[in-house]
Amino acid sequence: MKAIAVRPGTPHSVHQRDVPVPTLETQPHPHVCQIPSGRSVLVKVLQIGVDATDREIDEALYGNAPPGHDYLILGHESFGQVVEVGRLVTEFKSGDLVSCTVRRPGSSLFDQIGRNDITSQNEYYERGINLCHGYLTEYFVDDAEYMVKVPRELKHLGVLAEPASVCAKAIEQAYLAQHRLQVWSPKRAFVLGAGQIGLLATMMLRLRGLDVFTLARAPGPHRKSEIAHAYGATYVSTQETTMHDLAKRVGAPDLIFEATGNSQVAFQAMEVLGLNGALIWTSVTGGQAEVVVPGDKINMNWVLGNKLLVASVNGNRRHFELGIKDLAHGQALFPGVTEQILTNPVQGLDNFQEMMRLLVSDKNALKVYVNVA
Ligand code: BGC
Ligand code: ZN
Repeated sequence: MKAIAVRPGTPHSVHQRDVPVPTLETQPHPHVCQIPSGRSVLVKVLQIGVDATDREIDEALYGNAPPGHDYLILGHESFGQVVEVGRLVTEFKSGDLVSCTVRRPGSSLFDQIGRNDITSQNEYYERGINLCHGYLTEYFVDDAEYMVKVPRELKHLGVLAEPASVCAKAIEQAYLAQHRLQVWSPKRAFVLGAGQIGLLATMMLRLRGLDVFTLARAPGPHRKSEIAHAYGATYVSTQETTMHDLAKRVGAPDLIFEATGNSQVAFQAMEVLGLNGALIWTSVTGGQAEVVVPGDKINMNWVLGNKLLVASVNGNRRHFELGIKDLAHGQALFPGVTEQILTNPVQGLDNFQEMMRLLVSDKNALKVYVNVA
């Protein structure tokens, strides 16, 4: 079957290759974990989303091949249909729609209790990213443990299950950590970045009743600003109003969700967060940029303001479930909005060069995904 892969370490090495079709007996990542006998699920791939992580992997800034392989199959945002299940799988049947999580457990205590998303091992195993092959293929097999059902009513949003899990986890982490304040009830949020993560976070924070300001560079109206508005948020172009000016005008935010992919913005956000506030960092910045910040001022204001920084990566099975619930809730409250994130379908794995071109050079491509089947 067809697979889209890169040679990690070699920039712009994305290519198509032929790999064996997996069966229920295949062990997809024997160097990391074994699927227990009878617990395999074989999935036909319907759609795979790609994001900045895939771009950075193709630029050789990030990612590693599985041991013994000189290539890494891309794709970590999965959506597919169950074809066949092992004899001990009761939770899925052929025809079910599913998404599959990204991380596989290492050996730390966190991994052993199902929290591979917060592994304390330096090495982490992620399908399509680090040390495990991904989903940009025609079929994949994995452990039922890592599959999450997508309701049929959400079929058109299934490919957003993984990004939604990342947002759901990050927001949940911030709320959990803010229990330290006993009566925290955030009113105002700034979401920095209006890519898929920024927009999904905008939706999720609106669902939680916050007054949300979504900030990105380009002045609206355009698709991103319209989606933010349709979620009931205010879109702000940072070319017109800086984050600092906005905070002066509307008040300092109780919560900031940073998703620009720019470490300078991540640090600048520290200057505007309100008292007792939480700043969430989600950008994975593969480069080498250095940032100058007003250290004394930030340090003092953070100490005197009891502020919190929460960094969050990945989502495990439970976060996928939370994310899917929010996608459903969002669909009910803001009908027809979330699907507008899905701007750029690519037809078939054969068009992988077009997929990369959109990802690298089309500024208007909010979400690129491949219709595999
Ligand atoms: C993925 C996460 C992953 C992270 C770090 C993101 O693009 O969506 O699942 O943990 O990259 O590799
Ligand atoms: Zn991703």
